[in-house]
Amino acid sequence: MDRAGWNTPALLIDEQRFERNLARLNRRLARLGAPLRPHLKTVKNVELARRMLAGHPGGATVSTLAEADHFFAAGIDDLLYAVGIAPGKLEAAARRIADGVHLTLILDHPDAARAVAGAAQRLDTNFRVLLEVDADGHRAGFRPDDPVLLESARILANGGATPAGVMVHAGGSYACRDRECLVRMAQRERDGAVAAAGALRAAGFEAPVVSVGSTPTAMFAQDLTGVTEVRAGVYAFMDLVMAGLGVCELDDIAVSVLTEVIGHRREHGQVLVDAGWMSLSRDRGTADQAIDRGYGVVCDETGQVLSPEVIVSATNQEHGILARRDGESLKLHDFPIGRRLRILPNHACATAGQFEHLWLADPEGRPVRKLERCRGW
Ligand SMILES: Cc1ncc(COP(=O)(O)O)c(C=O)c1O
Repeated sequence: MDRAGWNTPALLIDEQRFERNLARLNRRLARLGAPLRPHLKTVKNVELARRMLAGHPGGATVSTLAEADHFFAAGIDDLLYAVGIAPGKLEAAARRIADGVHLTLILDHPDAARAVAGAAQRLDTNFRVLLEVDADGHRAGFRPDDPVLLESARILANGGATPAGVMVHAGGSYACRDRECLVRMAQRERDGAVAAAGALRAAGFEAPVVSVGSTPTAMFAQDLTGVTEVRAGVYAFMDLVMAGLGVCELDDIAVSVLTEVIGHRREHGQVLVDAGWMSLSRDRGTADQAIDRGYGVVCDETGQVLSPEVIVSATNQEHGILARRDGESLKLHDFPIGRRLRILPNHACATAGQFEHLWLADPEGRPVRKLERCRGW
């Protein structure tokens, strides 16, 4: 393998698996009749974003204003900034809107609505806003039947902002343990969004947007009647948490960290690699699942899982310790110094988030093309 231009640890994206993952969700959503508004926080790269957007209306989701700038500069201009708007960011948001970004904000508190309404008047900006609705107690959002939802819409409208509809993210789906739970979460996400949009419409608001989504609910939704768009990001890369949920197989995971063996802990039957938490991230998302995968599952250089038993059991900043889950020793002669391995991560976004670049890899695992990733806020 030509090492020119890359170094371990490196973020690899297996192009075939990536394309397969996109095709799978696209097929599902085509059957359910809902377009995708892909969440670009996972890929944070323009070329991969364009592939995710292919066949969809063109709107995307971002999690930072830095992502909004990055994708707008590449011509992706319909952007839902899907983190509750911080009042301190309203001037920055207004500047993007003045520059031509079709930016939509979200909020879930009447005081946030007041801040947006005040900024709309002060800055002479028509902010487009989705009201965030909580379907599962996971994180944020109005209850679908909470009168404060309508009050917030009125505050926005009276202040010259546009309450454009609702959005729900059933992040509680990540804690599911079986298929029934995933199907139920998807239904709750859809029902909560449709109910809240219905309440807004009954109160006289147009509320054209009914936005739902997470990767698990997008993959398990049975009915999306009334939904106008689905958001998902992890589906493009997949990861060990998704495999643990039954959303994908280990073989679907397109993202990995390329690393090299740098030492042996002979007395422990363990191996040291040059991928620690700085590259893999501290995410331990599989810790609460039926199979705890430590900091990642170990593959050979081509991406074949060595054995589901062989994991990164511990990390320091730049060291990873490979061990068997069952506590048996690794056969150290299978891990000569300099052997290259790939680690499948717990959480695609967290691991990819550690890197400024990604490498597209061919089916043999060779890094073939370096792509830039957006960073910062
Ligand atoms: C608001 C919102 N929508 C959509 C998503 C995408 O979900 P996933 O990461 O499961 O693809 C996220 C992820 O955190 C989110 O916060």
